[in-house]
Amino acid sequence: MTAVYPGSFDPLTNGHLDIITRASKIADKLIVAVLNNSSKTPAMFSVDDRLAILEETCGHIKNIEFAAFSGLLVDFAAAAGANAVIRGLRAVTDFEYEFQMAQTNRSLNDSIETLFISTSPQYSYLSSSIVKEVAILGGNVDYMVPAAVRVRLMKKIVGASCAGPVI
Ligand code: COA
Repeated sequence: MTAVYPGSFDPLTNGHLDIITRASKIADKLIVAVLNNSSKTPAMFSVDDRLAILEETCGHIKNIEFAAFSGLLVDFAAAAGANAVIRGLRAVTDFEYEFQMAQTNRSLNDSIETLFISTSPQYSYLSSSIVKEVAILGGNVDYMVPAAVRVRLMKKIVGASCAGPVI
């Protein structure tokens, strides 16, 4: 099975990492795909930064690839030869949105299945926005994100304290 794990990853969190690690064990090939034209603007990290973070953090996993995409997820997945999309479910509140997305994707291309992995409980409250908010307000995010994100977050926050808003 070739699977795509898509997301904004702005930034990657330990919750995403949990899903990536576990998905890489069930897929023959896992493509982590960074959405390039998110409606979530402004992004804190450029797509290149997000890809660099993924490479630094998960590049050691043998069956993993990283890519950026824009347009429809199912079109990207089909062009990449994938037959599955992986999504993480953190809590029941994720379900409605994820179910709608899975149904839409299936209506667009029924040869690509959506598979859900339940997030490990210790990450069920995490989101990229939470990480950014805590970091900007001076809180400790060490246990929320990998080192590659910590370093870049600190640079942005220190830089912004001299030069205006971070996001
Ligand atoms: N651990 C921690 N956080 C997690 C998580 C996990 N396991 N799973 C999701 N999240 C968080 C993310 O950090 C993100 O937080 P944020 O809202 O604060 O940024 C949030 O949950 C959801 O983000 P993400 O999983 O990255 O999904 P998304 O909603 O940003 O993007 C796409 C979803 C990319 C899959 C979707 O927008 C897409 O397919 N777009 C392409 C267009 C398309 O095909 N549309 C038709 C299908 S509907």
